[in-house]
Amino acid sequence: AVYNATNIKFHDGMVPRDVKEEILGQKGVVLWFTGLSGSGKSTVACTLEHALAARGKMTVLLDGDNVRHGLNKNLGFSAQDREENIRRIGEVSKLFAESGVITLASFISPYRKDRENVRTRMADGDFVECYMRIPIELCEERDPKGLYKAARAGKIKGFTGIDDPYEEPLAAELVIDAKDEAGTMQSAEDMAATIMHFLEE
Ligand code: PPS
Repeated sequence: AVYNATNIKFHDGMVPRDVKEEILGQKGVVLWFTGLSGSGKSTVACTLEHALAARGKMTVLLDGDNVRHGLNKNLGFSAQDREENIRRIGEVSKLFAESGVITLASFISPYRKDRENVRTRMADGDFVECYMRIPIELCEERDPKGLYKAARAGKIKGFTGIDDPYEEPLAAELVIDAKDEAGTMQSAEDMAATIMHFLEE
């Protein structure tokens, strides 16, 4: 069903964004983590949130598994449902960012178009795409939830990277590689530090 409301009008509030940002002593932004299941999105987002809190920064963490228990519990993993999942999270993220909150959104968000739609809904600079780049073999080796194994066995259909697409970002603000140039695995702390550095700049 499509419920397209008519006779609605957008109201501006009486407290503008810059006043809210001044109250909080920070700038609102959306850090959008995208990447395969098991790419470290949630771990790095959690680590970064912890580091931001230590600096007195107000954050909100939105994470696929959690949001799908509440706000998006009526959505599955078809292309259409993933699109709606990302659209809703994008709108929620926008509300937080416009209130001065540093928003960490961690979703596979496999479709480029869906991510770009979120980006275009935001003011310039508000959307920071953070691509967790990692070979799928590594994710499959980790397989913390046993989902790759289940997907290979055909028990989960339409699993991202196995029998469902993942479209890599073409111009992400940040690309976080699982291994550094010397081939050493980066820790979640290393990755969070890279993002923190970007935010400070
Ligand atoms: S999406 O594509 O952005 O709408 O997905 P997201 O909301 O981030 O949810 C991803 C988590 O759901 C679990 N899961 C699946 N992932 C991918 N494909 C299929 N079919 C699937 N079924 C369940 C999985 O635990 C994902 O969590 P992460 O943290 O990414 O591993």
